[in-house]
Amino acid sequence: MSTHRLDYRVVDHPLVRSRLTRLRDENTSSAEFRDLLTQLTGMLIYEAMADQPVDDVVVRTPIGPCPGAMLTDAPLMVPVLRAGLGMLHAAMGAVPEAQIGFVGVARDEDTALPAEYLVSLPQDLSGRPVFVLDPMLATAGSMLHTLDVLAARGATDLTAICVVAAPEGIAALENSRHRLRLMVGGLDDGLNDASFIVPGLGDAGDRLFGPR
Ligand code: PRP
Repeated sequence: MSTHRLDYRVVDHPLVRSRLTRLRDENTSSAEFRDLLTQLTGMLIYEAMADQPVDDVVVRTPIGPCPGAMLTDAPLMVPVLRAGLGMLHAAMGAVPEAQIGFVGVARDEDTALPAEYLVSLPQDLSGRPVFVLDPMLATAGSMLHTLDVLAARGATDLTAICVVAAPEGIAALENSRHRLRLMVGGLDDGLNDASFIVPGLGDAGDRLFGPR
């Protein structure tokens, strides 16, 4: 990890770009949106886990002994409700060792400020790798609130996975007190007057689950 407090990377890969293109398309159905988000999350998690420590182990193949590796630490995956739930299946599939925690945050539609409605997490997160899952990073208010909640429980090894991000959200994370790795599928142009990402993909929660 770099010395910067925010270490972020946009995953520039043809599969990510093509799936993201279809995810953005307003004609993509809810069922296909869920499937595309699952595919994209798998790719981003794979990249985000690349520097996780492993322990050396030895297994026996039918032919003989073989050196191998196992994850040193079981990460905690934290989807930010609602939209982060659309990333959970892929995260559990990619990292079956993971435990799961939940944070529910909803942006106020007028102020775009985050309002917390659920926290279900282990009490002590010190020393544990924690991965926050949220498809959208707009103002970063929801992400910063989630990071505050995690840090209050001792988490310092923090990674966020976002499918689409706005530069304003990246800047807010850069200016925050949190040390964070961030894996992003696409960096967009900016936010509109309603704090929606442009061009973005609309409201991920609504596209996954229907309007509130
Ligand atoms: C969206 C999105 C993020 C957040 C991003 O959730 O899923 O959580 O807004 O915006 P921010 O960076 O400005 O905080 P929303 O509040 O619409 O709730 P939902 O997931 O339940 O639809």
